[in-house]
Amino acid sequence: MKDELEKGIRRLEWASTHMKVLAEIRNRMVSERPLDGLRIGMALHVEAKTGMLAVALSEAGAEVRLASCNPLSTDDSVSLALRDHYGLEVYAKKWETTEEYYRNLNSVLDLKPDFLIDDGADLITMVHTERKGLINKVKGASEETTTGVVRLRSMARKGQLKFPIISVNDAHMKYLFDNRYGTGQSTFDGWMTATNLLVAGKKLVVAGYGWCGRGIAMRAKGLGAQVIVTEVNSVRAIEALMDGFEVMPMMKAAKEADMIITATGCKDIVGRRHLETLKDGCILGNSGHFDNEISKRALEDYAGKPRRVREFIDEYRFPDGRKAYLICEGRLMNLGAGQGHPVEIMDMSFSIQALSIEHLSQHYREMEPIVYNVPIEIDDYVASLKLKTMQVKIDTLNIDQRKYMAGWKEGT
Ligand code: ADE
Repeated sequence: MKDELEKGIRRLEWASTHMKVLAEIRNRMVSERPLDGLRIGMALHVEAKTGMLAVALSEAGAEVRLASCNPLSTDDSVSLALRDHYGLEVYAKKWETTEEYYRNLNSVLDLKPDFLIDDGADLITMVHTERKGLINKVKGASEETTTGVVRLRSMARKGQLKFPIISVNDAHMKYLFDNRYGTGQSTFDGWMTATNLLVAGKKLVVAGYGWCGRGIAMRAKGLGAQVIVTEVNSVRAIEALMDGFEVMPMMKAAKEADMIITATGCKDIVGRRHLETLKDGCILGNSGHFDNEISKRALEDYAGKPRRVREFIDEYRFPDGRKAYLICEGRLMNLGAGQGHPVEIMDMSFSIQALSIEHLSQHYREMEPIVYNVPIEIDDYVASLKLKTMQVKIDTLNIDQRKYMAGWKEGT
């Protein structure tokens, strides 16, 4: 237990050392205390970088409660250290049952939070369904991920959203780096830990060519895989082709794949008809938010109960003797088996989060119950801080150039 606590403290320290943008924001917030007296309920992946966001918000004056937004993504050492060393209220452990998962989200909501920080929108959804009594208490929320934003935009379109949301996911300083370079690297962190197998020379199918899929395909290519992309969007399919990847339907790709990684945000990407044609030994993994991209029902219907063959790998045996392997029960492999996105990436994403919550706390009264983008000033500010922490300087336009860019007469 003492070793586990020490480990958690060190992991948080390591994250803190490398979250230089958040450190600048945190320093200001410690002295200004812009969140004094506010209660913030958080459902995020409980690991070191998230821990530092929670610490920053608490130092900014807020009372914070944290649960995990996924039953498999908690780093227990960090959870322990946040509780015992930093004195935060954390309700999360690795390998939660579905019941424990919802109990923990409910514990966060028992705080009666003023603001929510969500990843995947389960917490926000609960306030709109079984915890409706909190609707008048919650003043606004921020959402971290594509899947969550898709759900919340659907609620807003149907007029069902009851408080304003800031879509952190749509900030440039989030999706361009977190979704692409973050998922690109952390997916293979998960792959290496889960399988200890080689990527080079394998046929790797990436399902979905959104920002996450682009990142995964790019890194897979760098590791020596032969990459095949599947898509439903024609523009993205062309982009994948021109980025140098093969593009084909999943039905064809499944026959060729040594490994399939899903990152679509949609369900049943790998279903029964694909399983029937998979090559023996194919490894299936998911980096999308929910565990429904690779159909576990189809796997169990076809193969029966799996056998755990490594810490994060289940083996399914099909009636004809072929085997398929599923990483992390189809949950996000980058957090289930890996350590999540690299620290410097989450530094940017969580800086946007901290500033978005501050913005909500100042402006919620004028805001409608719709999904807002992160104000461009916050995006630009985080970009400038990031450059500063990287000690990179860039050019600026002179007055004449600014006039030229604002004008319309050619060549003057
Ligand atoms: N670490 C904390 N939150 C994360 C997220 N949404 N994706 C990857 N790593 C994370």
